[in-house]
Amino acid sequence: MPDEREYILGTDKPELERLEFQHQVWVAELYALAARAGVRAGDTLLDLGCGPGFTSFELATIVGRTGKVIARDASERFLGHLREQARARSLPQLEASHGRVEELELGEGSLDAVYARWLFCWLPDPGAALARVARMLRPGGALLVQDYLDWGAMKLLPASSVFDRGVLACLQSWKDGGSAINVQELLPGLAAAHGLRVESFQTRSRLGAVGSLEWRWLEEFFLSYLAKLVEQQRYSAADFEAWRAEWSLRSRERTSWCLAPTVADLVLRKL
Ligand SMILES: C[S@@+](CC[C@H](N)C(=O)[O-])C[C@H]1O[C@@H](n2cnc3c(N)ncnc32)[C@H](O)[C@@H]1O
Repeated sequence: MPDEREYILGTDKPELERLEFQHQVWVAELYALAARAGVRAGDTLLDLGCGPGFTSFELATIVGRTGKVIARDASERFLGHLREQARARSLPQLEASHGRVEELELGEGSLDAVYARWLFCWLPDPGAALARVARMLRPGGALLVQDYLDWGAMKLLPASSVFDRGVLACLQSWKDGGSAINVQELLPGLAAAHGLRVESFQTRSRLGAVGSLEWRWLEEFFLSYLAKLVEQQRYSAADFEAWRAEWSLRSRERTSWCLAPTVADLVLRKL
């Protein structure tokens, strides 16, 4: 049975709330990508690595009651939230599927589309997962991926060595954990081997001033993840203290900006 501790960012309540806020920051991009890929009412979709379900609720709204969304995640805790909200929001077309994506068995050609946001970047073998979902797509079906192209592109402006050290500590922790955070560097190149064609590939670079959605998104992420790295002795308490002091000074002065990690939106079409 998958373990809650396997997911590097955790599955506790603060992480669930962070994912909910993150979803609000990025929800417009979800709708834009779904529209570009032609996802519509009546479709059968898989939401891969759905987490607590914030993406799944939107996808279930797009496909409507004549469609279906299968939401797959390794965290039973996150799926508990998804089931409860699916009932509260009257979304009977949304079905939870518990387990690792690497072990998912669905009929060959049974899906109109697969959607994955910030899932492939955490997988030890993204190519194997790509091969598996490619088989599940019907000819003409689409795989929609919203994920990192360059996480380390992030910057605090004016530049800050304290901030940059925090970025490096995060990158090192993911490397040590065996995941390729900049997974959008890999996926387009793997498509052809699995009978998929790159239909569109676009970057999303976002710059935000103090207090913007981007600013708050990065703040929530770093406060939570750097604290975890301190507990794991991968980042010093002194560096974390310096990070917080720098961020709070920048937040008060209101003369800074942050460049968010570069995300890319990818549509792969099954031949
Ligand atoms: C950053 S969250 C993204 C959640 C959701 N896609 C979103 O954008 O809000 C990553 C999710 O992937 C799940 N996950 C990570 N590795 C997984 C695996 N091998 N199999 C299934 N789920 C996995 C985690 O449990 C977590 O819910």
